Amino acid sequence: MVSVFAPGRVELLGNHTDYNQGFVLSFAIDRGITFSGVLRADEKITIHARDIGEIYEGTVQGLQRCEKQLWANYVLGVIAQFRNRGVPVPGLEVEISSNLPMGAGLSSSAALETSAAYFLQHSLHTTFSKFELARIGQEAEHTYTGVKCGLLDQISSIFSEKSHATFIDCRSFEVQTIPLPPKARFIIANSHASHTLVRGEYNERRDSCETAAQALNLQALRDASPLLLESMSNRLNSVQLKRARHIVGENERVILAVEALKNGHLDELGRLMFISHESSKTNFENSCPELDALVDAARKTHSCLGARLSGGGFGGATVNLLKAGNEVEISRALKEACPTVECLLTGAAAGARCMD
Ligand code: GLA
Repeated sequence: MVSVFAPGRVELLGNHTDYNQGFVLSFAIDRGITFSGVLRADEKITIHARDIGEIYEGTVQGLQRCEKQLWANYVLGVIAQFRNRGVPVPGLEVEISSNLPMGAGLSSSAALETSAAYFLQHSLHTTFSKFELARIGQEAEHTYTGVKCGLLDQISSIFSEKSHATFIDCRSFEVQTIPLPPKARFIIANSHASHTLVRGEYNERRDSCETAAQALNLQALRDASPLLLESMSNRLNSVQLKRARHIVGENERVILAVEALKNGHLDELGRLMFISHESSKTNFENSCPELDALVDAARKTHSCLGARLSGGGFGGATVNLLKAGNEVEISRALKEACPTVECLLTGAAAGARCMD
């Protein structure tokens, strides 16, 4: 029996920058998905999703996207990626259980892909690098769910370290972990607002960014400075320009945030988070009224150092940065602003691991 755990993540700064070959600052949280089970001698696949009381049944031979049980696709996609890499995957009988809120922008999908990839790696004794396991998760998502995500979620779920932020250069894929000041605390405020068109909106944002880079004759928006972008703004339509402003600004903010963190300047990190949210709201248009209300409420407390939406957007959660001691006051303000909110106090946790 093999049992693995993969955590969810918080995107601290660097919104939609990953697929633009830019920079991201994130950390793994202490909640995630446990994936346990055994390989079978036959071809049968049984996946028991304990929390929702559902069982998926199929075979490796008949492996294909499942239209009825969409959650199973994250696992099936990973099996397909192992097979694409020449690994003969036999049947399996596994159980997944989660303490990660779904659809909250905390990357339950990457946690599931990563846990499935770790399970197969440990059960089949393959030797894929951590980075390749992240790619396996990403490609599973592209092919089996149709979301053209970047690598932020999978890399954060795999490479993160306890009490550290994870800084990712999404061109070189160099990963650096940076200690978080001990007084830093984070509240994740899950608005429970969800958007039905998320996949379409996400892919549409990606498309606008990529066509903007092409119009600017750049490999990716990573290569645009704010000055360059404004000097060539006439090459873009108004939507592309807004999207590009968001990405270019986010890249700059991540670099500034890394400096701020290294110097222990939590106030500066918080200031950048508030600006990031404003840019999501006006330039990238991936916020929603509930998230805006949560960020406004956080700002009004004066003890919340920074707040912003985290992850894809269009619903989900905000991440709030504060100093230890202000948890109760800020949670109360968030609850008043958005009655459906669920506040989760979290710190930075370690990445995926085998539990044996
Ligand atoms: C989702 C995607 C990531 C990233 C974020 C936004 O979480 O899966 O790849 O693009 O949105 O930063």
